[in-house]
Amino acid sequence: MLREYLLLPLLAAYSAAYTITVAKSGGNVTSNLQYGAMEEEINHGGEGGLYAELIRNRAFQGSELYPSNLDGWSAVGESTLTLQNLSAPLSSALPTSVKVEGSGTIGFTNMGFWGIDVQPQKYTGSFYVKGSYSGSFKASLQSSTGKTLASVEITSKSVSSKWVQHDFTLTPTTTASNVNNTFSLTFDASQASSGSLDFNLISLFPPTWNNRPNGLRKDLMQALSDFGPKFLRFPGGNNLEGETIDTRWKWNETIGPLTERPGRPTTWGYEETGGMGLVEYMEWCDDLSMEPILAIWSGLALNEDVVPEADLDIYVEDALNELEFLTGSVDTEYGALRAKYGHPDPWTINYVEVGNEDNDSGGLSTYTAYRFAAFNDAIAAKHPNIQVLASTIDMTLPGSTGGDYHQYDVPDNFVSEFDMWDSYTDAHPILLGEIAALEYNNGVGLDWSDYTASLYPWWIGSVAEAVFLLGAERNADKIIGATYAPFFMNLDSYEWSPTFLAFDSKTGSVTKSTSYYVYTLFNHNHMTNTLPATSADAFGPLYYVSGLDNKTNSHIWKGAVYNSTADVPVSLKFESIGQGTTADLTILTAPDAYSMNEVGEANIVNTKTTIIKAGKSGVFSFSLPNLSVAVLTTN
Ligand code: AHR
Repeated sequence: MLREYLLLPLLAAYSAAYTITVAKSGGNVTSNLQYGAMEEEINHGGEGGLYAELIRNRAFQGSELYPSNLDGWSAVGESTLTLQNLSAPLSSALPTSVKVEGSGTIGFTNMGFWGIDVQPQKYTGSFYVKGSYSGSFKASLQSSTGKTLASVEITSKSVSSKWVQHDFTLTPTTTASNVNNTFSLTFDASQASSGSLDFNLISLFPPTWNNRPNGLRKDLMQALSDFGPKFLRFPGGNNLEGETIDTRWKWNETIGPLTERPGRPTTWGYEETGGMGLVEYMEWCDDLSMEPILAIWSGLALNEDVVPEADLDIYVEDALNELEFLTGSVDTEYGALRAKYGHPDPWTINYVEVGNEDNDSGGLSTYTAYRFAAFNDAIAAKHPNIQVLASTIDMTLPGSTGGDYHQYDVPDNFVSEFDMWDSYTDAHPILLGEIAALEYNNGVGLDWSDYTASLYPWWIGSVAEAVFLLGAERNADKIIGATYAPFFMNLDSYEWSPTFLAFDSKTGSVTKSTSYYVYTLFNHNHMTNTLPATSADAFGPLYYVSGLDNKTNSHIWKGAVYNSTADVPVSLKFESIGQGTTADLTILTAPDAYSMNEVGEANIVNTKTTIIKAGKSGVFSFSLPNLSVAVLTTN
């Protein structure tokens, strides 16, 4: 942690009570979405993370950027492993396989992404093999000391004329002491007629969330489920854009059997398998009841290549096909494809975002000149119910479209943006699609060419985000929702910090950040309507919003104290609440401004809930410490 960045802004002294009166009515209806999640393949948050596949480099997928290789694999005994592109590959999407040859017991070992977590549970595996073989295969999980944790014999169905898939399960009986475990597959070379066999797509999954095949890691999903995200913005982010036009995220290469998914070079320094594809994203939305906010590619790549207007049609068509795949009836071409892949019932897509940060990468002039309009017009014509979002607010938003605002900054700047949505009078709704305090206060703000990001969200940053989010909630008729970004960081390999959730290969390592606690508290106390509040005291150091959940008739007040020299007393009166009404008051605090939740360490966010009673005239009196985030809900 670089202490030279620990400059605190001026502290505001406060001793008199904030006297706040909340009106009976008169606010605005809020968006139903509020706090959600944003996911893209970043920081191995998907591959080696949320996507529960345990085998690294399972199908030797490669590209010009990251050519096929044997990363993660090693030979057993005297075997030789050779990558080959056979004339009869497993599929055109997976052209590279490994030839295993040698004598005696031969095969290969995989080290997993960063080890393999072994628990007493059922692991489900499979592999494809080609070559005439009359013996059996042995699949096993081994500890770093060579102890066999589980093994199974698989009778061969392998023949020389075609690729044959073999399925197996492994059920260890104990928990391995660490994740330095490997997966091995061996066979008896003397029973393979050519002395060698070819293998591809070797896969192993632990139990997944909702037991979905090709599914998601349970402990990460549990943490997400505890947060209760209302929407998922996917698949990016820079991930959607791609480094080049050709390496953009192509939805149609992420669907269907895994043998049909070629994978792609990600924006984040590695090849991905495509295993966590469009359908998996939608199933993830289904499993956590999240509204999908589908981002479609908009003709801009990160290397600043832009599709010229005359060539854009095929990409617009492609986006419409993607929407037909998701929402079309089984009588349509792509709806039928979806049904073929196991989902006859169409999904509903209510939000589509055109691109990502098209104000960046030299994209704004073409975005405003023709790219946004081309996608928006086509979608509006075919799907009039879809709310189309531009990926920026640096433009005049046409018709009923909305925009997406991203903010990475220092804490002070989030606080100074508390009122930014008060003056937003536009009718176009805004998604706060990426929000995170990235760097410590430095007196100037974030300089993208030279900044030092915190490894984890830290408390003053999280409180500052809370202040900004309170400002957004005050205007939640204009704000569609907000999400921290990015969401995941695999500590074994990451490029971007801080994130909402951090983890490593060990089950249970998932660590909820300080920002996670703030977002979760706000998310679990959803207002359906804001209520106007008046006070003679100006915002700062106390920031707040008040409202009502009309489903429970509970009155809600949310507040945060940023940089006060003293506790802030609050006298809060709801005009519609009488003396004696009780309320739950939850206050989040942390040991100091720079406390953070680190993987492997105890949670530092202190959550204290007390029941308080409204006194004379229905006034709730309480006090909030400096750098605290609070929610009061009446019973
Ligand atoms: O959240 C990380 C990256 O930040 C996103 O991919 C991109 O949209 C933004 O610049």
